[in-house]
Amino acid sequence: MATQPYKAGIIGTGFIGPVHLEALRRLGVEVTALCDVGDRAQTVARQLGIPRAFSDYRELVTAPDVEVVHITAPNRFHRSMALAALEAGRHVVCEKPLALNTRETAAIVRVARRADTVFAVNYNVRFYPAVLELRHRVARGELGDLMHVNGSYFQDWLFHDTDYNWRLLPEEGGRLRAVADIGTHWMDTVSFILGAPIRSVLADLGIHHQTRRRPLGETQTFRRANRRQRYASYRVETEDFAHVLLAFANGTRGSLAVSQVAAGRKNCLRLELYGSKQSAAWDSEHPEILRFGQREGANQVAVRNTPAFGRGAAGFMDYPAGHVEGFPDTFKMLFRAVYADIAHGVSKSPLYATAEDGHREVAVCEAILKSHRRGAWVNVAG
Ligand SMILES: NC(=O)c1ccc[n+]([C@@H]2O[C@H](COP(=O)([O-])OP(=O)(O)OC[C@H]3O[C@@H](n4cnc5c(N)ncnc54)[C@H](O)[C@@H]3O)[C@@H](O)[C@H]2O)c1
Repeated sequence: MATQPYKAGIIGTGFIGPVHLEALRRLGVEVTALCDVGDRAQTVARQLGIPRAFSDYRELVTAPDVEVVHITAPNRFHRSMALAALEAGRHVVCEKPLALNTRETAAIVRVARRADTVFAVNYNVRFYPAVLELRHRVARGELGDLMHVNGSYFQDWLFHDTDYNWRLLPEEGGRLRAVADIGTHWMDTVSFILGAPIRSVLADLGIHHQTRRRPLGETQTFRRANRRQRYASYRVETEDFAHVLLAFANGTRGSLAVSQVAAGRKNCLRLELYGSKQSAAWDSEHPEILRFGQREGANQVAVRNTPAFGRGAAGFMDYPAGHVEGFPDTFKMLFRAVYADIAHGVSKSPLYATAEDGHREVAVCEAILKSHRRGAWVNVAG
């Protein structure tokens, strides 16, 4: 589907901002403006061929040639940027997590509900064809009753005590780190597949590096420090890894392991669904493949965009089988769904995560923290 030539602006040009830009360009959306701190926006705009650059997000959200605002700045800015964009009457695509806590996310939900515009949270994992296919099969009862769902989201980019990023600081990333940053992707994805939110949790959080060393000067996500780097020590308050037992509203039980210190795992989201008829498994580092398990029959390996894979992701695959669609393609597909709603009006049940979905994930994070502190099951508020 072709998108209208909408005009978008992007706030934050670090790791994920350029991923948004690339996906928007693939869809034919014109990115007219960037915003970042100091003169960074000017430099990046020049490098990437963007006409306008701002150092204050309030100027970008009110610019007449910005109809859709993409928020790709660190978490602590999401609330004020999202509210400013909504108040300026703009459509918004906000990165996850929606904000630092449920007080902030509830404020965004209130304003987004009143607004006559589209608001999406960028839980992009929903748009892997394998995830859409699993959702389709679960809805059709092909797996039977879902007994339990298990999985993990593992990375290793914060493995060393010298690995540094704003996410390590609660005031910048939020009180939870690994769980909020990547665990919410897994939980959002599984709730999306099951069509059921998480109702309660029992959690255990771990900090491997109680003290870390922070490089002096600025750093960016996934960048490595150089050898002559100088450091300052600081006490770590956010979790490196976590284990969470989950109870979903439809009765399915689950378990999730999250880690940002798992050597060798670069960006690995795995999930396994165990139903009364068969099981299904998927691994984001091999995104083209779905595995189905049978008690009696032969287990199956289904390759994306083949008859064995199914038609549940029809319309969300642009390339034939064997031509891998991965991480950047999920952004393109999510934005395509968002821009279609901008053009034609918000769908009744959008496939992308809404402000309510983003709020719900932050509420689950708060229940996880409470559960870890109490050593007991905690219900998710709301
Ligand atoms: N959906 C995904 O897969 C995914 C992946 C990575 C990051 N993210 C999310 O995207 C957001 C950004 O993460 P990142 O990894 O790109 O971080 P980053 O640190 O690499 O980039 C953030 C950028 O925002 C800029 N910035 C900081 N304060 C600003 C302000 N007040 N105004 C404008 N720009 C400002 C920084 O200078 C930097 O260029 C986070 O919320 C993160 O959780 C999502």
